[in-house]
Amino acid sequence: MNGLIDIQQLSTEEIDQLIAKAQDIIAHPDDYAEKCRRKKLATLFYEPSTRTRLSFEAAMLELGGSVLGFSEAQSSSAAKGESVSDTARTVSCFADIIAMRHPKEGAPLVADMCVPIPVINAGDGGHNHPTQTLTDLLTITREKGRLTDMTIGCCGDLKFGRTVHSLISAMSRYRGIRFVLISPEELRVPEHVLTDVLEAGKVDFIETESLTDAMPQLDVLYMTRVQRERFFNEADYVRLKDTYILTPDKLANAKDDLTIMHPLPRVNEISTAIDSDPRACYFKQVLNGKYIRMALILKLLGVE
Ligand code: NCD
Repeated sequence: MNGLIDIQQLSTEEIDQLIAKAQDIIAHPDDYAEKCRRKKLATLFYEPSTRTRLSFEAAMLELGGSVLGFSEAQSSSAAKGESVSDTARTVSCFADIIAMRHPKEGAPLVADMCVPIPVINAGDGGHNHPTQTLTDLLTITREKGRLTDMTIGCCGDLKFGRTVHSLISAMSRYRGIRFVLISPEELRVPEHVLTDVLEAGKVDFIETESLTDAMPQLDVLYMTRVQRERFFNEADYVRLKDTYILTPDKLANAKDDLTIMHPLPRVNEISTAIDSDPRACYFKQVLNGKYIRMALILKLLGVE
């Protein structure tokens, strides 16, 4: 594999190096302004995106490179029936690195296996989203000064939310991490994450339906959107979509140094009244996403 498909491909040492690199970029942006001159990033997005695609593009532009690509399947030859592997082969003639988002789980892996350039998984169905996780880990590092010894609450759609699957998979490898998994019964973390990641890694976790009960224990609260596009019927979505809405009163018994995160887009699950709370970090997360993607592009292109 040339690219980054699953966060498990990176050791914790490599993750720590990427975080250190991102922090160096933040401190010395001018040193990186020409690092990817004449290099091209292609963004192949078969699913909607604002932050992920634009932060990949901003990352490459800030490294002095350029970008090309498409932002909807309908404007690509996928609309004519072209396979992901043929599209990827084609694009690899024009670009040095690919970021791909696709509704089908495994599509970026298929692309990575058939092209000579790195492919980055920018979200594959309800499966994984490794660069969001790198973003989240940089954010936790900057907010908490560490990635160890804390209780992380993940709340909302833990079944279809790919960002949560990758976050659990990454953070489970750090010392002293405890998860509180807060969801309705129907949207619990998939069995494979429970057994292959949490139980296999002997990670401390509990599952609960109550955000209120969980709140006082949390160092990080990771809210998520109910993933409408992955539901089989609209009635279930409508019934579950507003299960958790974080409002200021719900923070009454929260820690003063709680870090409130959300990969965004938010729908209803965090009231805008929380935005001015100093504990709200979701817009900081967006900016961190650009820096960590700059670090990842440098690593995958082998640029010193
Ligand atoms: C997330 C995604 O696409 O999985 N968004 C993102 O990349 N920041 C979360 C979501 O869509 O709910």
